Amino acid sequence: MHLTRRSTTALVATTALLGMASAGCAAGTGDPAPSPDSHQDVAVYTWWSTGSENEGLNTLVEVFEKQHPEIDFVDDGVTGGGGGAAKDHLQSRLENQDPPDTFVAHAGAELQDYIDEGYIQDVSGLYEEHGLTDVFPEGLIDLLATEDGKIYSVPSNIHRANVMWVNPAVLQENDIDPSGRYESIDAFVADLEKLRNAGMEAPLALGTTWTQVHLFETVLLGSLGAEAYSGLWDGTTDWNGPEVTAALEDYKTILGYTNADRMDLDWDRAIQRVIDGDSAFNVMGDWAVSGFDNANQEFGTDYVAVPSPGSAGTFDFLADSFTLSAGILDEDSAKAWLETIGSKEAQIRFNKVKGAIPARADIDEDEFTEYQKMAIKSFQEDTIVSSMAHGAAIPVAHLTAITDAATRFNREVQEGGGDVPAFQAALASAAAA
Ligand code: GAL
Repeated sequence: MHLTRRSTTALVATTALLGMASAGCAAGTGDPAPSPDSHQDVAVYTWWSTGSENEGLNTLVEVFEKQHPEIDFVDDGVTGGGGGAAKDHLQSRLENQDPPDTFVAHAGAELQDYIDEGYIQDVSGLYEEHGLTDVFPEGLIDLLATEDGKIYSVPSNIHRANVMWVNPAVLQENDIDPSGRYESIDAFVADLEKLRNAGMEAPLALGTTWTQVHLFETVLLGSLGAEAYSGLWDGTTDWNGPEVTAALEDYKTILGYTNADRMDLDWDRAIQRVIDGDSAFNVMGDWAVSGFDNANQEFGTDYVAVPSPGSAGTFDFLADSFTLSAGILDEDSAKAWLETIGSKEAQIRFNKVKGAIPARADIDEDEFTEYQKMAIKSFQEDTIVSSMAHGAAIPVAHLTAITDAATRFNREVQEGGGDVPAFQAALASAAAA
């Protein structure tokens, strides 16, 4: 990873001022001053510092440097999985008019605040210019476009959030079906209990705050079903209703089977518990696949990946997507980055390491692993719902309110409590805000 952290905007602005001060001449030479644009770089903001994320970013940079050797990549991001802390930090930069040239966000509702504030620009022109409209599936274009038909980002990938990662050997040792497939949450809980009784302290591995929200999302999906889950985001499912109460009870029960040190673990360390056989399961998006690959685990033998309990037939969607910031001096360099993001080479190479599937539909499936082929099929055939924890379903402020409520609830459960009515009321008021 490139370690440079600086604001290109600030740098170019300073160069421009110096250029003006020297009245068009390079100091002391009488030669024409270099144009402020003569040195091009692009400041790119991500939170991709861990495992597959970091490898993925490096791959994008390699492709970019090959496609645009005249522009330097500047790593302008932060560290931290799930992007929660990154979003807060980014927000303050945007408010202070210090935007990176381009930043990764999630396609969908998460972009709305940035659009409303005028922080990002419509990039539909780039879709026309680079033929992306023809190579992205129509359904994806619909998910990307705002009501007025504008598109504000270029996706690098499509991730599936409702994946459960399973250690089949652990299940087998305990006389449990090693496929790890559960048609219902109740069936899943029954096996969690079986593993607990066999002496496994935490059959389900869990990590820090945002991974708890991720698990919560998949429990809502598995408990409510795809339609009612989607209804939570468009107002057709009542947050105060009895189905939601039942889903929250399920979540509480499931949390009882997780590891006590969860607050200290980012997603990759929760996955490690499954690899090590300390836990049988972890629910995480498919960026997790690299943890298994890097530990030389064989898909189908050492680990399996299945829809999270109760969510078969659904693809819980999110897409990492790069934006074009407003108010930057060198838009061309940022557009060049976006061109790379949409290119076939970047989409293939990036997704091979990131574990996602390409946004482009014109890519040969044989480029990808068995897991990814399964995900491609599911994306084509299954019901698609939007991820809450990863910005596709709701704007940042709503997710922050849900995260606060879920974190409080987690703490209560850990301390032996867990007030479901209070949790439900907090979620309902978050939705009404
Ligand atoms: C998601 C993001 C993924 C992955 C994950 C863990 O929000 O979309 O690409 O980075 O966070 O940090």
